Amino acid sequence: MQEINASIGFDKRLWQQDIAGSKAHARMLAAQAIISEAERDAILAGLDSIAEEIASGSFSFSTTSEDIHLNIEAALAERIGEAGRRLHTARSRNDQVALDLRLWVRDVLDELDAQLLALLRALLNQAERYAASPMPGFTHLQIAQPITFGHHLLAYVEMLGRDRARFADCRARLNECPLGAAALAGTSFPIDRHTTASALGFARPMANSLDAVSSRDFALEFLATAAICATHLSRFAEEIVIWASAPFHFVRLSDAFTTGSSIMPQKRNPDAAELVRAKTGRINGNLVALLTVMKGLPLAYAKDMQEDKEPVFDTADTLALCLAATEGMVRDLEANEAAMRRWAAEGFATATDLADWLVRTLGLPFRDAHHITGRIVALAEAKGCGLADLSLDELRSVEPRVTADIYSVLSVEASIASRTSYGGTAPDNVRAQIAAWRERLG
Ligand code: ARG
Repeated sequence: MQEINASIGFDKRLWQQDIAGSKAHARMLAAQAIISEAERDAILAGLDSIAEEIASGSFSFSTTSEDIHLNIEAALAERIGEAGRRLHTARSRNDQVALDLRLWVRDVLDELDAQLLALLRALLNQAERYAASPMPGFTHLQIAQPITFGHHLLAYVEMLGRDRARFADCRARLNECPLGAAALAGTSFPIDRHTTASALGFARPMANSLDAVSSRDFALEFLATAAICATHLSRFAEEIVIWASAPFHFVRLSDAFTTGSSIMPQKRNPDAAELVRAKTGRINGNLVALLTVMKGLPLAYAKDMQEDKEPVFDTADTLALCLAATEGMVRDLEANEAAMRRWAAEGFATATDLADWLVRTLGLPFRDAHHITGRIVALAEAKGCGLADLSLDELRSVEPRVTADIYSVLSVEASIASRTSYGGTAPDNVRAQIAAWRERLG
């Protein structure tokens, strides 16, 4: 029973939040004359001494006390006697654990936000460096149209910027205080939940005591947002793995974020990127785990909810690690501009520009221009050359009205520079977006 029942092995990570909650509760109990001021002072001093011991590693956690709440309460009673046994007046471990986990997730959200900000800044620095550097843009992983590397990196800035906003939404929604809901029905003691809520930095107390002890949607929202963020990091990691492979050779990762092979001396393996890609699996799994725990649980508290902590802790730790590794990789990344430029010109990547020229200059409907361009591409393919390498006579054999002006749109640089529509890849657009992001991030 002890083995299946105990959570102290993992919920000791909530000790700071547990002590902060208990201190706020004790102060409120005294202010409401539910305990005396002397009892309050003894409780606060006792909690401080416990906090010091836990921080220094000298506190001995007992496995016979089920969880962090009982461990701290037992130690307090041992130290200060009866006053310690009054602390649990007008509360329950049900509101206590709901409070502690909310506080813990709130702290983690602030830490992750700082990490996301650092990663965004690293991406913006690289986007600026490569704002005009051509690379092939892909669809279906087939060369599609030329873009700039800076533009590609800015796509991740947008995604991670939305992740930040999702975490901020999650923080705002979770910032209501469950303390004082007691076991499930509230309490007959004259407590002041508004005071404890504001002392702990919450916007307000939660309005329904059943909801306060039985809801874990704040944890689910955290896990879901983290899963979306990890999925973004995983896609980026996958691109890094592809780009760093020898046949692509688009980027070079630093030694700090690659490993060698014990048998093949030439290898530089992108292990950090591979692990960021892989760790998304457990982050997604943690979301599904807690969703599955919560579905079908009747109100209010059920012990099932003790299973909320490990997925939350693991996701927080794993995402922090992935963000740090990704930031490091981005900071050190060197693009191979020559290889990217060469491939940007491959695969008839400016075929769309050719079709657009036929529309703009000859007034053809786009569908007809698309058809003619297809025949020109087939001609180039048969000759084993690029579009810009076809002679004017060769182009005219397909469409007699073509003029030499068409060559002005067939180069990679011309193609990129022409993509000036809002959100497009033209270098001036990319630079404007970088400036806008810098302004936004402050
Ligand atoms: N260790 C428990 C948890 O993590 C604390 C709440 C226990 N409450 C109870 N009534 N048994 O959920």
